[in-house]
Amino acid sequence: MKPKIILAIESSCDETAIAVLKGKKLLANVVSSQIDFHQKYGGVMPEIASRLHLENIGFVLSEALEKSKIKMEDVSAIAVTRGPGLIGSLQIGLNAAKTLAMIYQLPLIPVHHLAAHIYANEFVKPLVFPALAVVVSGGNTELIYMTKHLSFEVIGATLDDAIGECFDKCARVLGLPYPGGVYVDKYAKEGQITYDLPSHFDDGTLNVSYSGLKTAVVNLVNNLKQAGQVVRIPDMCASFQTAAIKMLVKRINKALDKYPVTQIVLAGGVSANSLLREEVASIAKARNIDCILPPLWTTTDNGAMIAILGRRLYQKKTFSSLSIDSDANWRIEDFDKFKT
Ligand code: KG4
Repeated sequence: MKPKIILAIESSCDETAIAVLKGKKLLANVVSSQIDFHQKYGGVMPEIASRLHLENIGFVLSEALEKSKIKMEDVSAIAVTRGPGLIGSLQIGLNAAKTLAMIYQLPLIPVHHLAAHIYANEFVKPLVFPALAVVVSGGNTELIYMTKHLSFEVIGATLDDAIGECFDKCARVLGLPYPGGVYVDKYAKEGQITYDLPSHFDDGTLNVSYSGLKTAVVNLVNNLKQAGQVVRIPDMCASFQTAAIKMLVKRINKALDKYPVTQIVLAGGVSANSLLREEVASIAKARNIDCILPPLWTTTDNGAMIAILGRRLYQKKTFSSLSIDSDANWRIEDFDKFKT
């Protein structure tokens, strides 16, 4: 049998991305990032994001087809991010996917964005179970227990802000560019932990809370400025990053005590963080469990991750009708439930 070709579209936030996967081979992975447009606002402006997706998606599709040297007639199915994400952004990708599915009479595969971040690790090696997936991004912070493929149980989550949001806010108050996490990570390498910041939130569960830490950084920076004192950016970044990662690492260890696993994987934008990667690698080593640290290109949004999960869903025939809508708050447990 000829290997199936999945064309996958991702547009949940500020990247317009299309990938082509033939069997297990990635033929193209085109990503058009909007970061330059949003940087002056210090974060993603949803209205601008949707307009840019609309302007770019046709070009991204042409480039993906050109790079992969295939024609639309060769494609077996269209996979697309249905959620979670920014509703306007999601709708551009989903409408493009529906249109292609209708014209070329192809099955449509709705893909959960965070599940796709987890499955991006399969570009490194297969997931093995039971596994703990640590999903950390600008909008989500979740500990997900997986006993088998496509089984997601959220065992811990943030009670308020996502960890990435906290990195971005801390960066903004320090006058660093967007996306803040990248710059906090960079400056932290040059700094010392000299500021006292809270990382002790513990409600006895596997949940975390980042709003207290975020407020503590904002207040401390503002108080220092008002008192005419210099804010040492590298030291503030090192102190904040250590506090933020320490809270997460405590929960990861607690989760592993309660749910013994054979593998731990990281996923999402914050999984690019150098301290988190170091910590998770050493936890895995100490506990003698396997670990996948996602390659940096999969930590930012891309179509390849939608394609690799789309391929698995294609095999299970998880298709939807063309009347499906996007879901900005789609829960990962419901990744295969959609009203059509
Ligand atoms: O996965 P993603 O695009 O977010 C959502 O889909 O919501 O990840 C973006 C987030 C931003 O908050 C960004 O600051 C953060 O990931 N990020 C980092 C690093 N690189 C990106 N956070 C900490 N350290 C990094 N090296």
